Amino acid sequence: MKRLLLVFTLLVLVLPMTNMTEAQDTEVSLRVFAERNDIYIGAAAWTQHLDVPEHREILAREFNMFTPEHEAKFCMISSARGEYDFSRFDQLVEFAEENDMVIHGHTLIWHACSPDWVENGDFSRDEAIEILKEHITTVVTRYKGRIKYWDVVNEVFDGAALRDTAWLRFIGPEYIEMAYQFAHEADPDALLLYNDYGAEDMNGKSDAIYEMAQDFLNRGIPIHGIGLQSHFNVDSINFTSVAENIARIGELGLEVQFTEVDIKYLGETDDEILRRQARDYYRLLEVCLDAENCTAFIVWGVSDRFSWLRDPAYFDNPTVQPLLFSEDYQPKPAYFALMDLLMRRVGATSVLSDDAIAAILNDPVEEVALPDATFADPNQLAPDSVPGVAYYAPMGVTITLDGDLSDWENIPRVTVDKGTLDGPGAESYEFAVAVDDTNLYFMANVTDSNVQYGEYGVEDWYQTDSIEFYINATGNLAAAAYEPGIVQIGMLAENATQPDTPLVGGGSSDTIVVSIAAVESETGYIIEASVPLVSDIWTITPEHMGVIGFQTHLNGSSGSGRDTKFIWSAADSQDQSWTNPSLFGQLIFWDGSQ
Ligand code: XIL
Repeated sequence: MKRLLLVFTLLVLVLPMTNMTEAQDTEVSLRVFAERNDIYIGAAAWTQHLDVPEHREILAREFNMFTPEHEAKFCMISSARGEYDFSRFDQLVEFAEENDMVIHGHTLIWHACSPDWVENGDFSRDEAIEILKEHITTVVTRYKGRIKYWDVVNEVFDGAALRDTAWLRFIGPEYIEMAYQFAHEADPDALLLYNDYGAEDMNGKSDAIYEMAQDFLNRGIPIHGIGLQSHFNVDSINFTSVAENIARIGELGLEVQFTEVDIKYLGETDDEILRRQARDYYRLLEVCLDAENCTAFIVWGVSDRFSWLRDPAYFDNPTVQPLLFSEDYQPKPAYFALMDLLMRRVGATSVLSDDAIAAILNDPVEEVALPDATFADPNQLAPDSVPGVAYYAPMGVTITLDGDLSDWENIPRVTVDKGTLDGPGAESYEFAVAVDDTNLYFMANVTDSNVQYGEYGVEDWYQTDSIEFYINATGNLAAAAYEPGIVQIGMLAENATQPDTPLVGGGSSDTIVVSIAAVESETGYIIEASVPLVSDIWTITPEHMGVIGFQTHLNGSSGSGRDTKFIWSAADSQDQSWTNPSLFGQLIFWDGSQ
């Protein structure tokens, strides 16, 4: 395996990426490209799975990290104090070593697999500490130098509180830090993780885990990372929140691993479900690849046939299909999606065409039939907009950025006064858009009796009075993630009092030059802005009835942070445009001379 990998790497270096040779083709696997992305791709298994030839083969071929799914746990290896049977644990470790897989030990302490003799014991605090130490020392010492990562304790939180476990009753909360100390003493080189479920994104439980880790670090208790189990449902992952959680853990100097990934769907699985599952796998791996401290992506099984979620004892859904390989070991769309991501990231030619991966990632947008264009006022330069869906922007209009709205006359205006927050931060705003041959112009006229200047700076622009417009000029209105050609432009009301430096924030707004003229007005403030039609990230060529993605928001504050959020596009009911551009509406160019 080692030799083949080396040959492969050399080939890639000397050959142009587009000419895949046969040798390269045969070496396309998750593990090869995970290595090139500098992360581990892992899988969990039981010894009995190794008896299935396809299962063994896929494990060895596709994964470079291995987790014992169940047979390393305390209840599985110890039937009485001091008595251990390591035969199955050994088999798994040997299999992993034979196949050059890094071992992720799972797990030393878990309430759900604590031996009866512990659970039903009647121990003094000191005795219980002795038992805890004996167990951890015995297991970690046995595999010293061979198991790189250990999930030392698993699932000790129940929500944000400590779970009621036998160890908690015997010892008190200190049992957790003791476990880490004992593991560290037994193998000072092992990297020690805390592992849990439901704490992947920002929430009360992940707050509690973060605080525990921070406290351990402050007090010198050895901990090196957090395992996010990642037992998810299709369509339910808040990727940006997961990314935020990983980032804060990274700020503590800790690693993160996705340790038990499976993505299930409870209804009947069809092709569309498999697509959405593939999309979610892709986006989750993407979060890991984007985070420097995320070091592993481990799936909780190989084939749907053996998923733990099919076990009546746990989940009892005999048809659930949460993994990367089907019951008969065929790679599923989720497998190809991960492969695609790992390959494209290192500049290799993907196993999937551009269209194939786009079809996986892009949710079909509902076609909105636009009503016939109507003109409320015959002098209007473009038709009325379709509320929350489409705005007709006139072409060939001359606008000067000066805070004076007289040149916006006869350009349709839309009033926005609804969204996800309806506080006293602002009353409403009207906006308009127009284009000439070189620029796209945006105007917002805000009614706000209490404009905040200087409350927040450009970093936190969305916490205070500010106006946003968004453009998706990629031609793909279904794009569900930001990419070059999609921008969010957030402009502080404070531009009105500091005209010299445009105060602009928002996703990718630094990829485009935004010109701004802002003024205070009798009823609030006015912002005019423009972006060039031709730039590094896009070439917008307005044509009559041509469409680009467009969105606009207002943030309002009455003095203590954002309390108002108005949103134009009806598709964006949850204030998610900053992360998901498929929620934008349409900007339709209108050539009045036609
Ligand atoms: C599960 C295994 O997948 C099953 O095969 C076994 O019967 C019970 O344990 N969270 C964890 C894992 O940390 O250890 C669990 O694994 C799944 C939930």
